[in-house]
Amino acid sequence: MRFKILFLLPLLGSTLSQGVEFEKEILPFLNASCVDCHKAPYEENGRTKKPKAGLRMDAAWAILAGSEDGAVLVPGEASKSELYTRVTLPHDDDDFMPPVDKADPLTPEEVELFKKWINEGADFGDWQGNLEGKPTEVTNEGNKIPVSEIQEVYKRLSEGLTKPEESVWKPVTEAGGRVQRLARESPLLEVDFRLTADEADDEAIGSASVVAANIANLNLSKTQITDEGLSLVSEMPRLVHLNLSQTGLGDGALKNISGLSELRTLNLWGTNVTDAGLKQLKGLKNLEAVYLWQSKATKAGVKELTKALPNAKISLN
Ligand code: HEC
Repeated sequence: MRFKILFLLPLLGSTLSQGVEFEKEILPFLNASCVDCHKAPYEENGRTKKPKAGLRMDAAWAILAGSEDGAVLVPGEASKSELYTRVTLPHDDDDFMPPVDKADPLTPEEVELFKKWINEGADFGDWQGNLEGKPTEVTNEGNKIPVSEIQEVYKRLSEGLTKPEESVWKPVTEAGGRVQRLARESPLLEVDFRLTADEADDEAIGSASVVAANIANLNLSKTQITDEGLSLVSEMPRLVHLNLSQTGLGDGALKNISGLSELRTLNLWGTNVTDAGLKQLKGLKNLEAVYLWQSKATKAGVKELTKALPNAKISLN
């Protein structure tokens, strides 16, 4: 009898303790499957590699700070935590994490533990992780959540802007666009025509003008948009990310972008843009990245634009 009780004690101990232990049970699989792409910026071959989507998973403060789009973890609610939902999608979904063939997917047991840990309140215990780059704490409605630079930008852009009801953007959805809020309570929107890219012409994309003032991220990759059609974006003063990759756009499109002072990234991969067009971007002092792979731009054009925008990463490949 005594033997039996002794044998059961460790088991009892683990079921009665506070629950899942982050450092012992969660951190090892995050390190194995996620942290390579989601960690503090580092140098590789003379280039700074930034964490994907601005999300770092190498520190407790960073996981709580979330990605460039906001929080990814809602303690107590795994189903509302993108950190969790991304690992539960079908593996062929574009949003599945880790990206297929890039790292080992979590096992069903790990997924289950992850869920349990979040639902129990996402307690990191004593683990802090990498404190490098930790911003000064900004009080955020009473929660001590550090706010990243881009979140500050989104916050500033939201000031005085009304949060539109879903019914307002019905014309966009009907025209084949996907509209999402940047965060549940945010008036800022992300609009994406990739799913219907083959049919998305100027008229379909023009439907987005009903929410033009609210659009912070616009993805027109592979759509049929024309230089004239792109005049639409000049009505979007809050654009932060604009993806025009693999479209037929050329220099004529860029004059519509020249006044978008909040723009941080501009993707012109696979377009007909040339060095002459790049000149229109010189005034965009907030630009952080311009992608020009397989465009008609040359090294000379890139060099000239870099002179005007020394802080931007302008890449031809
Ligand atoms: C091979 C690199 C790579 C690995 C490994 C990886 N990710 Fe990602 N992750 C990305 C990229 C690229 C993005 C941005 C594109 C996107 O949103 O899908 C991203 C985006 C995300 C986002 C969305 C952030 C946001 O709000 O936009 C979450 C959450 C995320 N990853 C979680 C994870 C988790 C959890 C793991 C491990 C199970 C993981 N990632 C492993 C590359 C990676």
